[in-house]
Amino acid sequence: MPQMSKRLVSVTPAGRTGWEVHFLAEARRAAGADVIMCSIGDHDFPTPEPSVEACVAAVRAGHHHYTGLAGRSDLLAAMARASQRSTGVATTVDNVIATVGGQGALFAAVQAASDPGDHAIVVGPYYATYPGTFSLSGVDHTVVEARAEDDFQPERAALEAALRPGTRLILINSPNNPTGAVYARQTLEAIAAFCRDNDLWLVSDEVYWTHTGAAGRHLSPLALPDMEERTLVVNSVSKSHAMTGWRVGWLRGPAPVIRRLAGFNLVVTYGIGDFVSRAVAEALDNDWGVAEVTATYERRRAMMIEALAQLDGVVVRGSCGGIYVMLDVRAIEADGERFALQLLEAENVAVMPGESFGRAATGHVRISLCQPDPVLAEAAARIARFITNHGSLRKRAAGGTS
Ligand SMILES: Cc1ncc(COP(=O)(O)O)c(C=O)c1O
Repeated sequence: MPQMSKRLVSVTPAGRTGWEVHFLAEARRAAGADVIMCSIGDHDFPTPEPSVEACVAAVRAGHHHYTGLAGRSDLLAAMARASQRSTGVATTVDNVIATVGGQGALFAAVQAASDPGDHAIVVGPYYATYPGTFSLSGVDHTVVEARAEDDFQPERAALEAALRPGTRLILINSPNNPTGAVYARQTLEAIAAFCRDNDLWLVSDEVYWTHTGAAGRHLSPLALPDMEERTLVVNSVSKSHAMTGWRVGWLRGPAPVIRRLAGFNLVVTYGIGDFVSRAVAEALDNDWGVAEVTATYERRRAMMIEALAQLDGVVVRGSCGGIYVMLDVRAIEADGERFALQLLEAENVAVMPGESFGRAATGHVRISLCQPDPVLAEAAARIARFITNHGSLRKRAAGGTS
């Protein structure tokens, strides 16, 4: 076999990734153990019925054909309206392009904003696909770690320190996966000023925009002064409309960039599915299921935080929005992966080690809320028991009394 490209090889991370815990848990489950999977971020419930029915009707009506490269015009119009609702910034069909999920929009944004050999800044903890998105694009990146003690809000000084002559963009994600942090207005203003002062693109991953929790209405940096010309907003129906498997997302940006990105779709996907596009357009315009999905995660987040907040030795960090709870376990275990493996062994609960999402989340674990309420309550009880036992085991090992 001839040699594979270095870019392709670089997408698969070398060494440990944190997924080991998840795969081990799956193996235990397959062998019959009663394992609760709180490791991944996919809804435990199906897509809302009206969206499913709209898709079935579109298939039956014979909508089986190619769509426009940027997306069907009704889908783009629905995406533009959704963008306007989420960001508060006037948006037309000329500002949006349909992509294969938010991930497709992320990849498109990096292609649009940087060339091979350029440099990007990523705020960590970050979504696990970010490093591969840059390496497949031939773009070098520096992770700027937002500190747990600052509730994972990045600081401008740290961004400045990461700047290089070839830096072209910064990638942020709020509400954040894995931390659940929702960036405060001051944080976004500082990031926006940093972009303006250094003539950078801001790629803003807002796929969790309906999951803002106590932070209230979503704030997009697109809405900040003079940011429209340099902001590319990544969005999708995966998390908001419970449509992860439909693989539909979009990028919102300046019209000249969006026009060019039709050429990107030409060679990468040749557009997205016809009947899927029609159903997603309706789902977006009617916001089918959005209120219920949002309320479900609000309820689950509150339940999980309440179960964990009073325990000695752990601190809930971030976890304002999103669909995860981030637990700082450093006081009882410095290594999040070791904690996750021990938790799996002792209590059959799978969580993701914070280390999978960058150094800033070392000694943390991410607990996904994607399990039915009673299952999640059982997971919370098991995690609490493990932490309580862990503490007393350590005290005993150190010669304590309990
Ligand atoms: C922060 C973040 N961005 C983007 C995505 C990609 O979402 P999708 O491609 O399903 O729209 C995800 C999925 O988990 C995510 O967590």
